[in-house]
Amino acid sequence: MPLSFSCATRLGGVLTVCLLATQPALAQLTEMPAQRLGLVPLPREVKAYTATYALPQKISIYATGKDGSNVAGLLKEMLTGLGKTVTLTSTRAGANIALLTAATPNPEAYQLTVDQQGIRITAAGGPGLFYGAQTLLQLLPARSAATAPVPYVRINDQPAFRWRGGMLDVSRHFFSVEFVKKYIDLLAAYKLNTFHWHLTDDQGWRIEIKKYPKLTQVSAFRKETLIGAQQLFKTPAEFKYDATPYGGFYTQDQIRDVVAYAQRRYVTIVPEIEMPGHSVAILAAYPELACKPGTYETWTMWGVNEDIVCPTEPTFRFFEDVLSEVTALFPGPYVHIGGDEAPKTRWKESAAVQEIMKKEGYTDVEKVQGWFNRRIEKFLASKGKKLIGWDEILEGGIAPSATVMSWRGEKGGIEAAKMGHDVVMSPTTHMYVNYGQSPKPHSPYEPLMIGGYIPLDVIYNYNPLPAELTPEQQKHVLGPQANLWTEYITTPAAAEYMLFPRLLAVSEVAWRPAAGKSYAEFLPRMGQQFARLDAKKVYYRVPEPLGLDSASVVRQNGKAVFTLRSLVPGAQIRYTLDGHLPDETTGLYTKPVAVPLNKGLTVRAVTITPGGRKSPPAELLVN
Ligand code: ACM
Repeated sequence: MPLSFSCATRLGGVLTVCLLATQPALAQLTEMPAQRLGLVPLPREVKAYTATYALPQKISIYATGKDGSNVAGLLKEMLTGLGKTVTLTSTRAGANIALLTAATPNPEAYQLTVDQQGIRITAAGGPGLFYGAQTLLQLLPARSAATAPVPYVRINDQPAFRWRGGMLDVSRHFFSVEFVKKYIDLLAAYKLNTFHWHLTDDQGWRIEIKKYPKLTQVSAFRKETLIGAQQLFKTPAEFKYDATPYGGFYTQDQIRDVVAYAQRRYVTIVPEIEMPGHSVAILAAYPELACKPGTYETWTMWGVNEDIVCPTEPTFRFFEDVLSEVTALFPGPYVHIGGDEAPKTRWKESAAVQEIMKKEGYTDVEKVQGWFNRRIEKFLASKGKKLIGWDEILEGGIAPSATVMSWRGEKGGIEAAKMGHDVVMSPTTHMYVNYGQSPKPHSPYEPLMIGGYIPLDVIYNYNPLPAELTPEQQKHVLGPQANLWTEYITTPAAAEYMLFPRLLAVSEVAWRPAAGKSYAEFLPRMGQQFARLDAKKVYYRVPEPLGLDSASVVRQNGKAVFTLRSLVPGAQIRYTLDGHLPDETTGLYTKPVAVPLNKGLTVRAVTITPGGRKSPPAELLVN
């Protein structure tokens, strides 16, 4: 057996202790496909081996410094949750897990080694150590287990993009601090590092601002909410409302608590304070900020509202006051100012806006929004913050150092990058995770939703770097972001259903270079995450069985033969041929099934997970 040495050097190299080890070095071990580890996102370089390190019941974690101690503390919480007894130590010798620092150019890069000496994570500092720890957790059992054999690995990893985002709209429906923390945990577990918190909109203002108490007394509440999917009604006259007051907000103490929680997990929060559009909730409390005097109410339906704030001095004072409090609460570099969907109906009718146009020499009212944004940008800069906005901010003349979040496709992002602005790619075509997951619009098996159909493969195959940008321009693409708008998402479970498993595909879009992605190879790795999501009590959408589509069905001897498989390990597939919805009592799929052609039979099949959860049905009319 080959020998290997492990040496510990005391400061200055005065004393060097080398231990002669008789265990095999990694180079002499049997390799296995990295794929089998089931990691999401797949690290940049992985070597995996069949040998395992037996992580004992009592574990010690070695770490030094503030970041090392932070990550060690988080690992301790996670491992304690897996039934281990964990101590933190500042003595390297004998530690089962060592968190080590070494200079690397990318602060998010890390190395993870598991071998006979135990587990070592090496990184420049906190973020890298944290991501190494997340990868390690995915090598451990999903739940408390008597033994935890950790496969020997040598992993070298770093992200493709700096901005790896997930947005949550808490205005249309309010989400508790507890759920916001869970969302942040889930982002971080899949190495997403940016939480875009959409805090204000027509349907509710959700952040306490000390100087404007009516924002949380009035704007945070609406008197009722539209029932049903708005786009299915022909005219507003058909709308029905639930006659139930709705609202909520975060106190500044709660915001500070969430910020600290995110910081511990190396997640940057980007707060969004919408302006000048999506602002009727502000007018409900402060109607003097409207162009037209009147009474306004926090909106009870969805869409784009023509009642927006007027771009006059009192409005600037309002937003500057609000942003002073917001910038003091959020330590991250960016503040999102919205900027989307701001109709100029009221501005066109306003003498005050005409006055601004005359003074600035504008003939196009859209230019007033650009002027407004540039003033806000200057104010944010005075607070040391950068402005980011939806791609409409390009239209009225963009603020010089603004970052653009491209949502109406990639066009805005491409244009902005060509102009030298940084961009975040979150196009509705690929990154809107509130859009549907069933090919059938308004499927009876899916929740109410808005928008089109964005299945997993469409997300997975998204490349945030548009081909028409030069390599130099591509450097302005900070990364991708998934958006979750919540018009029809009223509970944490409903949010999780839309987010998972699609967020796993987003994770890989953000972490992997496009050339290193393969959807076919992603699916089985994703499958291995379901047990982890179960352990975290995440209400993911159980994927329907694969193979029930006309391209996969084989027609022979007057029959259609279908071969099904599930993406969920250990799941059952149940099916019916009589039009009923399959359940635990209907046919158990064990081998390919032949169905006579031309009898008008519909095959329906569902996945039933080991935990008993069911997928929506896959279905095919056989003819
Ligand atoms: C948006 O979806 N209105 C940015």
